[in-house]
Amino acid sequence: MQVITDVGYLLASFSFIIGLKLMSSPQKAKKGNRVATIGMGIALITVLIGGISKNINYTSLLILSIAILAGVIVGRKMAFTVKMTAMPQMVSLLNATGGGCAMLLGYIEASQISEYLYSSSLLLLNLGVVTGAIALSGSIVAYLKLGGKIRDLHQGGVHWFSRVLFLCIVLLPLGYFLQIIPWSFYELTLVLIFIGLLYGVLFVVPIGGADMPVVISLLNSITGIATALAGLLYANKAMIAGGIFVGAAGIFLTMLMCKAMNRSLWRVIVGNTGSKTQNIGGETSQEIRETSVSEVVTQLLLSKKIGIVPGYGMAVAQAQHTCAQLQNLLQNKGKTLDYIIHPVAGRMPGHMNVLLAEAKIGYHYLKEMHEVNDEMGSYDMIFVIGANDVVNPAAESNPASPIYGMPIIKSHLSKQVVVFKRSMKPGYSGVSNDLFEYDNCQLLFGDAQVSLQEIVTQLKALN
Ligand code: TAP
Repeated sequence: MQVITDVGYLLASFSFIIGLKLMSSPQKAKKGNRVATIGMGIALITVLIGGISKNINYTSLLILSIAILAGVIVGRKMAFTVKMTAMPQMVSLLNATGGGCAMLLGYIEASQISEYLYSSSLLLLNLGVVTGAIALSGSIVAYLKLGGKIRDLHQGGVHWFSRVLFLCIVLLPLGYFLQIIPWSFYELTLVLIFIGLLYGVLFVVPIGGADMPVVISLLNSITGIATALAGLLYANKAMIAGGIFVGAAGIFLTMLMCKAMNRSLWRVIVGNTGSKTQNIGGETSQEIRETSVSEVVTQLLLSKKIGIVPGYGMAVAQAQHTCAQLQNLLQNKGKTLDYIIHPVAGRMPGHMNVLLAEAKIGYHYLKEMHEVNDEMGSYDMIFVIGANDVVNPAAESNPASPIYGMPIIKSHLSKQVVVFKRSMKPGYSGVSNDLFEYDNCQLLFGDAQVSLQEIVTQLKALN
């Protein structure tokens, strides 16, 4: 039996590695997802076989099987019914469950543990419990913030209090092992769980809106570490390997996103004190030029090179299919069309790639921001469809802006920009967009899908 479980966990680990590797390319991502799912299936079956080999009683085996089945059914349902726009919230929620599991496993072990275990094992257990608790509460707060249910809290006191909590997380286990603190190991674990949960909340609550993706990825990484630590406790190879992959991938993604937003991780975590220029939810009053569908159609007919900058609003409007229709029409008229993708457009890494892939838009039409920024002047027309922060020139020119330093798509340097949006409400970061006041920028108000559909209809009528 031991050989079967060893082989099972090895196969599962291999599937995770191959799945992750495939997921690094948009073309092979679906295949990667399938391979990793098979790996997870193998891991779950191996858990059951492991249980049987250790002669666990029938009731426990039944509970284990029901729990696995329930998890598979609920997870599948969630994945198939979640809206594209709510995907980041779902990632946060799933992340919270991972952290919660690691915390509970540590708690159960702590409640049964012998005080004569090696200090290193106890330390591992403490680390697993604390990281799990931070990932659990931090991810729940991230979920609520992404859903707009709670706002940022930029009180300086929050930062100081969370620093004190962090010190407690480091010093309390030290005090226990040096026998300065007279608690039992179980009592220490309970206190650490409480502090970890509180720290997770205070860690995420002050993070600025535009920095949330970085934090979600960091929490993902923390969950991975917590899982690997729990795997060490149970000597479960698949948990160790899976945890290390998630931990490492999460930290790499965090660093890449920090680079894409030109922010240091330290500034994301402690440097966000908000800004007076933020205007969350309210409309901004700016001098703008409004345009109409027929005016846009005329400009399109005179343009040769067109760029489309998709953003979160394209996902909200589900305008990707109409966009693909427009692309076909324009290409049939001999025009060149590119999609210009910002790494943090939308609400999760790769959001725009997934959205455009859904409408079967070929990957060769997608250009990265840095590929086109230097030649932006060659575009006759840029359509900004449901994007806002990622084209805001304030990120380059206004040091007081919360998004200052974030690299942007320099659509303002093209010959003509048309922004598709419904109102004068700001984007995710809550700041007004300087682009709207540029002489070459016009706003086409309305739902992006409806506006695009009207453009398509008028273009077809001209054929
Ligand atoms: P945002 O700055 O959020 O702007 C979205 C725009 O879409 C808004 O101007 C909104 O204006 C418009 N919109 C919404 N629904 C629409 C509809 N049905 N039709 C037409 N327009 C619509 O989006 P972005 O430019 O993609 O920037 C992403 C932001 O999210 C960045 O600040 C980024 O840091 C943050 N973020 C990114 C991620 C990742 S990893 N991608 C994760 C979390 C947060 P109206 O309401 O007026 O229509």
